[in-house]
Amino acid sequence: MTKNQDPNDSSPLKPSRPVSVVIFGASGDLTQRKLLPALYALRCEGFLPDHFRLIGNARRDYTDEAFRDLMREGVEQHGRHAPSEEDSWTDFASNMYYVGGTLEEAETFDKIKQKLEELEANDVEESIRLYYLAIPPSAFPIALNNISEQGLSVPESDRFRVIVEKPFGVDQETARVLNTQVHSAFSEDQVFRIDHYLGKETVQNILVFRLANGIFEPLWNRRYVDHVQITVGESIGVGRRGGYFDQAGIVRDIVQNHMLQLLCLVGMEVPIRFRAEHVRNEKVKVLMSLSPLSEVDIKTSVVRGQYAEGVVDDERVTAYRYEEDVNPETTTETFAAFRAYIDNWRWAGVPFYLRAGKRMKTRTTEITIVFKHPPLALFKATHERIPAPNQLIIQIQPEEGIKLRVGSKRPGTKFSIDPVQMAFTYEQSFENAPPGAYERLLLDAINGDSTLFAREDEVDYAWRFVQPILDAWQTTDLCPVHPYWAGSWGPDAADRIIERDGRAWRNEMPGEEPTLT
Ligand code: BG6
Repeated sequence: MTKNQDPNDSSPLKPSRPVSVVIFGASGDLTQRKLLPALYALRCEGFLPDHFRLIGNARRDYTDEAFRDLMREGVEQHGRHAPSEEDSWTDFASNMYYVGGTLEEAETFDKIKQKLEELEANDVEESIRLYYLAIPPSAFPIALNNISEQGLSVPESDRFRVIVEKPFGVDQETARVLNTQVHSAFSEDQVFRIDHYLGKETVQNILVFRLANGIFEPLWNRRYVDHVQITVGESIGVGRRGGYFDQAGIVRDIVQNHMLQLLCLVGMEVPIRFRAEHVRNEKVKVLMSLSPLSEVDIKTSVVRGQYAEGVVDDERVTAYRYEEDVNPETTTETFAAFRAYIDNWRWAGVPFYLRAGKRMKTRTTEITIVFKHPPLALFKATHERIPAPNQLIIQIQPEEGIKLRVGSKRPGTKFSIDPVQMAFTYEQSFENAPPGAYERLLLDAINGDSTLFAREDEVDYAWRFVQPILDAWQTTDLCPVHPYWAGSWGPDAADRIIERDGRAWRNEMPGEEPTLT
């Protein structure tokens, strides 16, 4: 698919032009765990062109052979397609090269350029060149400067693209600086800011579910929706990423990007076409419409938490402050919950309750649309309690699927109402396991389709929304850090921000059936 091509169009996703990918930071974890397995899966499934080559760059010295072996290990451990099962590995690996050198040296980039020219010498058509910055953000400026100085990119040209990994800045100011740096080497059309949540099948399905079915969109507004909940819960802690996480916290790590992306997809208006520009325009409008959080809102409707020790999946785990590379006095949040409003005609007055946390009771990412009660409680004479409101639960992971909770008459002589659910799971409905998020996103970037990537203004407005929270936490005593037991649903204070509105978090384990009354 070429730039701005309609993704509904049935033309093949396999690029027709040769493709050269350069990964900066090729000896790192991301390359081994995600990028190589994804590229190899694309190769096995026929999505890469015959003329495809990959150059890895990092500081260390590797021969091409040693680099190929390292990449093979990554694919073996993390890939959907094992190299040993596929003859195609030999062919794939033979198009993989390593150019060592630091990002500070112009010579490194010169060597990469020469290698690219050598590999592309016999191409009948100009290749697409995709640069992947799998490097720490502090290395972006020098890498971008050298890419530009050494003529590895030409702004506005349809030939060059760059993928930038998160974190995209650490606040609104640094994100803006970073955008300026990126734009010194690439024009916005060439920039693909990756948020791997957008590569998940279930996340893409939010729009399909809303907009390819006639029955949901009419209900998708303030007339019928009571409130929306979004939970991004992880049972894992910070593991070996304590050094990074202690500087970041969950708002920068999850809320500013993954969570606000989910909010946008649920809240956005219908784009006029399913094209990058139109979809991203609508997402930006949601972010622009988010009601800014005042100091009072932050005090009353935003909660930060940090996990204490506890039991997760039957295992005793340590408190956050005793994790590796974490400051024992840290106040960094591993949990955040807040109430937000989208101030537009569709959503005015509908609260969105959002929470994200590490070391929670279970791994679950879900969006719940809770509908209003029917206007009249017709069965109240025979039913002792008001039946639960209808809920539409979009389960992003791990049990990917969608459930609709409705009330049903319990068999018997009375009109008693019990909640039941209609459910679909990916596992039962589709034969093939969904591709990994990086597969889809890498292929889209190669093809120049930026629909599933964050645009500059999207990132900026997302920072604009979370920045007052970060500032308040930094500079005032407005919000204490609430401890919560590892293996719980978060601190009690998070329950209070929803319970005082007469509502409750949907604390259910994935796959749990509704409780019959
Ligand atoms: C990453 C965060 O972006 O997303 C991690 O940096 C987090 O802290 C991860 O664990 C969650 O991704 P997923 O796909 O496992 O939900």
